[in-house]
Amino acid sequence: METLEKLKKYNQTRTLKLIENLSKDKAKSAALTELLKSLETVDFDELFKIYNESKQEVIIDETKIKQLPYLVKKELNPCLAKLFYDLGTEVLNSGQYAVVTMAGGQGTRLGHDGPKGTYSLDIDGSRKFIFEILKENLEETNQKTGKIIPWYIMTSPENDAPTKNFFKNHDYFNYSKEDITFFKQNHMPLIDVYDQLLIDKNYHLKEASDGTGSVYRSLKNDGCLEDMKKRGIKWVFIGGVDNILLKQADRILLGMAIFKNVEIASKTIVKSYPEEKVGLFCQYDNHPRVIEYSEMPIEISYEEDENHELKYKEAHIMCNLYTIDALEYLAEKTLPYHIAFKKNSYLDEFGTEIVPKEPNSYKLESFLFDGFPYFDNIALLRGDREEDFAPIKNKEGKDSSETAKVLYKRYHATH
Ligand code: UTP
Repeated sequence: METLEKLKKYNQTRTLKLIENLSKDKAKSAALTELLKSLETVDFDELFKIYNESKQEVIIDETKIKQLPYLVKKELNPCLAKLFYDLGTEVLNSGQYAVVTMAGGQGTRLGHDGPKGTYSLDIDGSRKFIFEILKENLEETNQKTGKIIPWYIMTSPENDAPTKNFFKNHDYFNYSKEDITFFKQNHMPLIDVYDQLLIDKNYHLKEASDGTGSVYRSLKNDGCLEDMKKRGIKWVFIGGVDNILLKQADRILLGMAIFKNVEIASKTIVKSYPEEKVGLFCQYDNHPRVIEYSEMPIEISYEEDENHELKYKEAHIMCNLYTIDALEYLAEKTLPYHIAFKKNSYLDEFGTEIVPKEPNSYKLESFLFDGFPYFDNIALLRGDREEDFAPIKNKEGKDSSETAKVLYKRYHATH
């Protein structure tokens, strides 16, 4: 009864009609029970408060934006490069380095049936899974150091079981099983453009992972930070699952962070044109910050420096490094939610599944980079698009498996 009241309070007409229709049909009583049970757990007041806040426009005060210093990896003075390299190597050799892969996304644009990391690409006649490519990158470092980098993989409630099964069925790609830890992020209900909750085909409230910002708290809550401390980890890399040129243990980036005595560091690539849809690093109100392309004031996007180059062009590519203390600190912070517009199927009021062709619903997400302003400094290393960035986002066209494969092959032909 309370659930119905809550649904009425928030004008959930579609779900109310679905409940009404299910209650008229005896054969559907189990479905009705399932649906009511899954709705019972939702704190509607809290959910709609977050949802309404996330829809509010982010106000950026242009006067508070400044450039952040960065170093260009390819242009480093050789002595400095060697110093960074050696500092990074020392940490890797002493086994104080861990890697986190955020693989809890929905991958709606790719449309692959399964977690994105289980997507495979045809590389010169043999199929390689994305997870396998990431594992090979870790192995490359392990072979040089004689240590095994502990690998933490973030899943979502939706894709946790399929991800774990996938690894099991592939014998963990011969990575030491004890050094792979799966941990689950949180999820949040999806809400469509008419402010209606979505119900999935199993008569459950449809939920989705709640963004990359979830990683900090989830690492702590699932005991991963504790585990890292027990293993003597000092530095943690956090990256996404969908960039097949991601360098998860870049000694120069690590050494630079140590040398600069910062708690967070990030590798960037240069934004190629003013309208490119990337988040950009800047200093905002004296703290490091990434501003999403959609939130960046247009004049700032086009602003040039004295060399007639774009003034703000260090793009965030999910290639981030933290001290273990920084992660402990961020785990206690509450990051804001944003809304992402996504394609999600749902049941209509008659219980028929509707599979939309276009995005129809909002996913509530916090962003990992909203943790950066909690620090005074960040060390930025500008990498190279051709060497560091081959994203797989879309089914076809730009940033698809086809474009990523070309970049991957080109890189590996020369390295
Ligand atoms: P994206 O923002 O590109 O989202 O994630 P996505 O879910 O993979 O794909 P679309 O937008 O639905 O098509 C970037 C990285 O962050 C991870 C993803 O798995 C990917 O590695 N991610 C994203 C999470 O781990 N959890 C989330 O809640 C969101």
